Amino acid sequence: MPDAMEKALALLAAGKPVALPTETVYGLAADATSGEAVARIFEVKGRPRFNPLIAHVAGPEMAGEIARFDPLSQRLVDAFWPGPLTLVLPMREGARVHPLVTAGLETVALRMPREPACGIIARFGRPLAAPSANLSGRITPTDARAVAAELGERIGLVVDGGASPVGLESTIVKVADGRPILLRPGGLARSEIEAALGMPLTRPGDGGALLAPGMMVSHYAPDAPVRLDIARLRDGEALLAFGPRRVADADKAVATRNLSATGDLREAAANLFAFMRELDRSGAKAIAVEPIPDQGLGEAIRDRLARAAAPRPGNQA
Ligand code: TXA
Ligand code: MG
Repeated sequence: MPDAMEKALALLAAGKPVALPTETVYGLAADATSGEAVARIFEVKGRPRFNPLIAHVAGPEMAGEIARFDPLSQRLVDAFWPGPLTLVLPMREGARVHPLVTAGLETVALRMPREPACGIIARFGRPLAAPSANLSGRITPTDARAVAAELGERIGLVVDGGASPVGLESTIVKVADGRPILLRPGGLARSEIEAALGMPLTRPGDGGALLAPGMMVSHYAPDAPVRLDIARLRDGEALLAFGPRRVADADKAVATRNLSATGDLREAAANLFAFMRELDRSGAKAIAVEPIPDQGLGEAIRDRLARAAAPRPGNQA
C-alpha cells in the first residue's frame, strides 16, 4: 500500500478524486478546499449537488479550524474519534471548506477516520471531502473490487485496504439547542452515543428533510427488488439470512448468504453490502431478508435495508 499512498497524494494534489479505504466504507476522496476537485466527485458519482458531503479531517485540531464545537459534540469527539461518527456543526467564518462540500449550508459534516485514512489526510494537510465510492443511489462498496467494478473507469486510483471492518457508513449526529439528534444511524450504535452523553438521541421530526438533506428514501438499491422481514420464501428468490434459525422454505432459495450465523450484529454490518451485491448477481427475482433485530447496529442495518427496499423513482438519486 505505501506506493498507492504516494500516488493517492499526488492525484489529490492535482485535484483528482481517489478511492480510499476507511473503517466504515470506501470513500471517493478529493481536496475539500478546491471547488474543482469537489465538483469532480459529484460528476463521477452522478450525485445531486444539493446533497452535501462529509469533510474528513486528520484530527480535532483540523476540525477546530473548520467548525465550532459545543460541549456535547466535543464530548463525542473525545469518546469516539477516530471512528465511525460524523458530527454536523456550525462552520466557522472563512473556513477553507468549499461551499460545494456543504451545498451552501451554514453547517458542515466532519469526521476523523481511523488509519490509514487519517494519516493520508494529515500528510495532505487539508480536509478531504468523501462520499461513499459508489454511483449515487447504488450499494455502498466495502472492498476495493466493488469500487473498481463500479467506478474503475472514471477514477485514477482505488487504494486497496482490504474489507472495511465496520461495513456501514458513519453515524451522523447534530447537536441543536443542547440536544443531540441522530441524523443517520450508522456504524456507531445509538446506545454507545447515549451512554457517552448520558442522554437520549432524538430523531429528526418534521423538517428532518432539511436537517439531513441527503437522506434519500430510495438508496443502496440492488437491481433486484428487496423484501424485508419475511416469514417464508417465494419461488425464485435469494435469501439474506440472519442468525441460526431459517424461515419457511429457505431451502428453495436461488442463493443464500447468512449475515451472521450466530446472530452477531457487528458481523452482520460488516457483511451487509457485500452480501447484497452477491445476491443481486445471483439472478434472483428478488432478495428476501430475514428479520433483523432493532438493537445495536441493527438500527442502521434496518435503515439501509429499508432504503434498499423502498420504491425507486425513475430518476434515481
Ligand atoms: O462513513 C461515512 O460516513 C462515509 C465514509 C466515506 O466516510 N461517507 C459517507 O458519505 O457516507 P455520504 O456522502 O454517502 O453521506 C454523507 C451524508 C449525506 O446523507 C449528507 O446529506 C449528510 O451526510 N450531510 C453532509 N453534510 C451535512 C450537513 N451540513 N447537514 C446535514 N447532513 C449533512
Ligand atoms: Mg453513500
